[in-house]
Amino acid sequence: MTAYLNGQFLPLSEARISPLDRGLFYSDGVYEVIPVYSRRPFRVDEHLRRLQNSLDGIRLASPLSGSEWRAVIRHLADEAEWDDQVIYLQITRGADNKRDACFPPGVTPTVFAFTAPLVGPSAEQRRTGVAAITVPDIRWGRCDLKTLSLLPNVLARQAAADAGCAEAILLRDGFLSEGSSTNVFVVRNGVILTPPKSQLILPGITSDVVQELAVAHRAPLNVRAIDEAELRTADEIWLTSSGKEVLGVVTLDGQPVGHGEQAGKPGPVTRQMHAWFCAFRDEFMRHGHD
Ligand code: PDD
Repeated sequence: MTAYLNGQFLPLSEARISPLDRGLFYSDGVYEVIPVYSRRPFRVDEHLRRLQNSLDGIRLASPLSGSEWRAVIRHLADEAEWDDQVIYLQITRGADNKRDACFPPGVTPTVFAFTAPLVGPSAEQRRTGVAAITVPDIRWGRCDLKTLSLLPNVLARQAAADAGCAEAILLRDGFLSEGSSTNVFVVRNGVILTPPKSQLILPGITSDVVQELAVAHRAPLNVRAIDEAELRTADEIWLTSSGKEVLGVVTLDGQPVGHGEQAGKPGPVTRQMHAWFCAFRDEFMRHGHD
């Protein structure tokens, strides 16, 4: 598997970083996950913009220019064994010769990237939808930055796995924030709802695509805060992320999502949105210019 580390391409198995790296001591770094379809990286401009925003948020100058990032992504996508991939980019504040929280002067950031096969939801999960639990959102106040500090997300995701569920949906002060590694959409009375961008959720690239698709197809969309009661009585719930794309949630804390005939099944708006997403992605695979 091809990787990139500090200016060099090398097999992933040969990539080595210092145990003094600040990513290990302090989670002092940021990352991105970029889906690649048919060797075409999807929405690269948007992912690189979010990466820059994350770097700005932790006051770390980008070690690579936009064209250098693109060259790394291009090389990894071209060299991979698979056509559909996820490219992971990570920048930490580097390795000093001691452990001290303050930014170390003169230390070079560590830049690491690798590509892996894109493994989406199974055909079964797509057909039947997935189960989710809710957990309290115990994360910090800058969830809009894609930082390496993912322990609350890891614990939430493991709680979901322990409960036999695919995702944990996070609630803060009685309101929906997002999933442990997904954004969340709700459908109520035919209207698609999702929480607005803020410092408390990640601005998802897939979420933006889905919102654009809703607008393009004139599906009613309302971006606003969603309280816990509205989540629990939703007609439909779906998750978005790079890799998961649009994935229906059919039970929440063991209760079926939706009402009547539709309860516990991926709903019509979810299925329609997934179809729009697939058409958009397939068009991109044929004609995309990223
Ligand atoms: N996760 N919210 C959180 C907390 C996330 O970690 C992610 C992505 C998303 C969805 O963002 P996007 O649509 O840009 O993938 C929302 C990635 C996939 C990860 O950490 O692996």
